[in-house]
Amino acid sequence: MKEQLEKIYNSASQDLDNANSISDIESIKAKYLSRKGEFNEIKKNLKNLSDEDKRIVGSLANEITQKLEGAIKTKFEEFYNKELNEKLQKDKIDITLPGKSVRMGNIHPLTSTTNEIVTILQGLGFSVVPSIQSPEVETEYYNFDMLNVPKDHPARDMQDTFYTKGASNVVLRSQTSGAQIHAMEGKKPPIRVISPGRVYRNEEVCARKNNFFHQIEGLYVDKGVTFGDLKGVLNEFIRIYFGASRPTRFRSSFFPFTEPSAEVDVQCIMCEGKGCRTCSGTGWLEVLGAGMVDPNVLRGVGIDPDVYSGFAFGMGVERFAMLKYAIDDIRLFFNDDERFLNQF
Ligand code: PHE
Repeated sequence: MKEQLEKIYNSASQDLDNANSISDIESIKAKYLSRKGEFNEIKKNLKNLSDEDKRIVGSLANEITQKLEGAIKTKFEEFYNKELNEKLQKDKIDITLPGKSVRMGNIHPLTSTTNEIVTILQGLGFSVVPSIQSPEVETEYYNFDMLNVPKDHPARDMQDTFYTKGASNVVLRSQTSGAQIHAMEGKKPPIRVISPGRVYRNEEVCARKNNFFHQIEGLYVDKGVTFGDLKGVLNEFIRIYFGASRPTRFRSSFFPFTEPSAEVDVQCIMCEGKGCRTCSGTGWLEVLGAGMVDPNVLRGVGIDPDVYSGFAFGMGVERFAMLKYAIDDIRLFFNDDERFLNQF
């Protein structure tokens, strides 16, 4: 039995020497020291021995078991530390490295200008119409017919308006004024609405003009609305948007859907009125068209022009932004140059 014990111990020691990992050591422990392990099998047989032998073999068995336990523990710690160190080495991070900076987007200057204009006009009593009432792809009916633009008017010419291929009467809207018709159709005054959106024109692109741009249409129809109301609202708007010190002028003009009509110019901020490339030497930039809603337009949507009157305006968003931030070329808004966009 003694020999048997020593044999087991020797083979356990050999196994331990060959062990390569914690899991090897765990299987060795199970093989020799568990309840079903080899030492326990021997201890079970102790009862067949004489008392004297029981004592000798028993204490030897205990001694050897303890020795083996000690050896296993040492080996285990050795592997445990080794594996832990390897893991720590592998997962090591340098907490002194600078972090990756998160790039923040910012609001496009045209969006913020639109928001600013809308907020001011809301403060003056106008509400934004749902966008479904001002589509970018529009029929001639809304873009021209109902706005009193005669069939032979030059603005309808293919050179100004983008026609679609599918249907001859469908256009990319050339102005937001169609929103006036959508807003008045089937409704009774008072109507006091605004409608921001994109418009398209087949223009030659230059510092002042792009072949698409953005407008904010405004419409106020009620009993007794006068040109004085129009001037009052627009002057107040411009005072809030630019501050009191910016020179502006009202100029009489013509639009088929307003009578009388006017345009508003704001002094060019790039040259302070001296004349430059942006204002094509005039010292002024036109920012909006406006006028009293033509009686024909009111009649067309079933509003009696003898009872009601109204005014309308269409503001050019790019121009308002250019004149506030001294942006000397409209194309800067659309070519995604970060050096430009990051300034806002
Ligand atoms: N739709 C006109 C334009 O695009 C502007 C305008 C709007 C004029 C409303 C009068 C009334 O030039």
